[in-house]
Amino acid sequence: MTEEQGKAWSGRFSEPVSDLVKRYTASVFFDRRMALQDIRGSLAHARMLARQAIISATDLAAIEQGMARIKSEIEQDVFVWSLDDEDVHLNIEKRLTALVGDAGKRLHTGRSRNDQVATDIRLWLRDMLDTIDRLLGDYILALLALAEQHAGTALPGFTHLQVAQPVTFGHHLLAYVEMARRDRSRIRDCRARMNRLPLGAAALAGTTFPIDRESVARELGFDGVCENSLDAVSDRDFAIEFTAAAALIMVHVSRFAEELILWMSPRVGFIDIADRFCTGSSIMPQKKNPDVPELARGKSGRVIGHLTGLLVLMKGQPLAYNKDNQEDKEPLFDTVDTLTDTLRIFADMVPGITVKPEAMAAALKQGYATATDLADYLVKKGLPFRDAHEAVARAVRAAELKGCDLSDLSLAELRAFSALIGDDIFDVLTVAGSLAARDHIGGTAPAQVRAAIARVRATL
Ligand code: ARG
Repeated sequence: MTEEQGKAWSGRFSEPVSDLVKRYTASVFFDRRMALQDIRGSLAHARMLARQAIISATDLAAIEQGMARIKSEIEQDVFVWSLDDEDVHLNIEKRLTALVGDAGKRLHTGRSRNDQVATDIRLWLRDMLDTIDRLLGDYILALLALAEQHAGTALPGFTHLQVAQPVTFGHHLLAYVEMARRDRSRIRDCRARMNRLPLGAAALAGTTFPIDRESVARELGFDGVCENSLDAVSDRDFAIEFTAAAALIMVHVSRFAEELILWMSPRVGFIDIADRFCTGSSIMPQKKNPDVPELARGKSGRVIGHLTGLLVLMKGQPLAYNKDNQEDKEPLFDTVDTLTDTLRIFADMVPGITVKPEAMAAALKQGYATATDLADYLVKKGLPFRDAHEAVARAVRAAELKGCDLSDLSLAELRAFSALIGDDIFDVLTVAGSLAARDHIGGTAPAQVRAAIARVRATL
């Protein structure tokens, strides 16, 4: 048998491909990651073929026996993968035929690698989505625990990175919890839309055999079948949608990472991160660098890149399957790897954050964080908000000239800006008063933060 006759499509060809073309067109060294899904899909297909009397019970038994052997060879890492057989599907099919003969050659009846690969990716990604869902849950729990410890710890909230108003650290962390909860629901939405069976589409048009797609869908845990065979083999929107959701998760994590880096800078000093997530410098002995958050911020770039890559991969493709689609796997796999590692490490790192409430309190002494509270106070005494805003602006300028906080001005000094100010003002100008006053759902009052934590916990 010549080399080309060993190929699944050999009879048509008059010369073998070069080694370079073989390597260029092969995917086995990355798509073997879907080997167990490929076997699962093949077994479900073979059982359906036997139920429909398209293959014999004897052939099915041989296929099942051969696949069990192949599965254990793969699990024990003794399966011999060959570039000559291009991809995971042909490698497994060839081994099956070597093990069980003609029954192995009958497995591909009524099927194509086009619907086979589309099925494998969905099975593989579905498992990964379940893992990611769980990891997001762990990350949310870690954030909630830290938020609960610091439901009453005050720090400056920023807009434009300028001190704005006091917030609690717990409240600040809950912002990331909300992002992660939406991220989780996006992953679930993606799973629901993706969970349809492509098998039965065959190469593109369906098959002439009397197949039963619904039973295959049930066996493989799909909620139904893809309704259009051309679409089933050619679209990868589920992979794009997942990567978009993953990019957004990475963007959210990256924002948090950026804050951790900033907070850990000695110039800010709001937190410390456990040593095991940091590294030193080879030249500067004093350094402790927040490598893990920095890498998470950096790795968000590669996932965003994968999203762009997949969108561009799809945009010019005519129906139906094109080999371009083989390029979907590496970005998809790397997205999953990057995302799962990042979520695992963040769920681990959050409990390793030490909060420094004194540094946060000291920062609140700068920047007039309670200026809005003074304005609100004047409004409650009857002054129109715009006039109150102006009066407080003048008070801030006076305090700035004196080099003190608003609360350090005397009642007489404050009254120079508005006669409406009374001695009840000093409660308003404290950080605790400012926090407690924002006492509504979504507000930063410690009681509201605790209630919000309880509400999230009840949904988990
Ligand atoms: N390795 C291919 C992929 O990943 C499998 C499908 C190949 N189909 C084909 N007609 N060449 O897309």
